[in-house]
Amino acid sequence: MNGIYFSGNGNTKHCMELFAEATGGKAVSIESPDALDVLKSETEIALGYPTHYSNIPVIVKKFIQNNASLFKGKKVFIIVTMGLFSGDGAGLGARLLKKYGAQILGGLHLRMPDAIGDVKMLKKAANENINIIKAAESKITQTASQVKTGNYPKDGLFFWNRLAGLFGQRLWFIPTANKLRTKLHINTEKCTGCGKCAANCPTRSITIQGGKAVFSVGNCTICYRCVNSCPAKAITLLGKEVLEQCRFELYQKKMQAM
Ligand SMILES: Cc1cc2nc3c(=O)[nH]c(=O)nc-3n(C[C@H](O)[C@H](O)[C@H](O)COP(=O)(O)O)c2cc1C
Ligand code: SF4
Ligand code: SF4
Repeated sequence: MNGIYFSGNGNTKHCMELFAEATGGKAVSIESPDALDVLKSETEIALGYPTHYSNIPVIVKKFIQNNASLFKGKKVFIIVTMGLFSGDGAGLGARLLKKYGAQILGGLHLRMPDAIGDVKMLKKAANENINIIKAAESKITQTASQVKTGNYPKDGLFFWNRLAGLFGQRLWFIPTANKLRTKLHINTEKCTGCGKCAANCPTRSITIQGGKAVFSVGNCTICYRCVNSCPAKAITLLGKEVLEQCRFELYQKKMQAM
């Protein structure tokens, strides 16, 4: 099955690539022009995204809304990655897609390392994260075999999932998430003006001015990509200091070195 995904830090990209490969397809980022080709040409697709405060990332919501007519009649399997818990991560995408005439084949929730690298409480030991990745990989392989026989899991698609997402997270965190977007902080003393954050931001919310990175909230989707990839660790969002740069490629290197 071909897949389209958004991934801030590589977790969702890895999961989607693994799933697509195991089901005989390819995975493309919604940031690539190829995503629309996949959407136009396929009748069955997988759609992947991370959960942000038990919600669908704004960039993914906009991708669905902007391409609503292309989703009409599609059969969609939704894959959601998360650090710990997302009641109805897949359900959120499912409800939106159904509104535009898509049929939902199923949902898959995958626990992966938490992308928030500037909050101590959310940090885990390297080994723990590696075990989490291995568990997700085996869940993907198992699901791919099931899917090939027409059997789709329904993670996050039931009504109780919706209640869990709403009362467990969204009701309390939506104001935080909205405010958070405005709180991205760039430490200009640390910033070397290398431009990596500006070049990689999916929403073009960072520019380089006078040799320093400047943030303007715009469509910032709080994906943490800039926080987790700034070589000077100059960017923070929820916390005040970058404790770990949570990129999938870094975990992968550790796994390969074991
Ligand atoms: C702003 C933000 C909010 C998040 N909220 C949640 C959450 O509510 N529940 C959860 O389990 N994980 C949460 N996470 C963790 C991510 O969903 C998880 O790390 C995901 O795999 C990241 O995927 P990516 O590497 O493709 O960006 C959050 C991450 C970010 C950056
Ligand atoms: S990636 Fe970091 S050091 Fe480079 S321009 Fe952005 S904030 Fe500055
Ligand atoms: S500014 Fe940072 S957190 Fe916001 S969308 Fe760009 S990379 Fe993601």
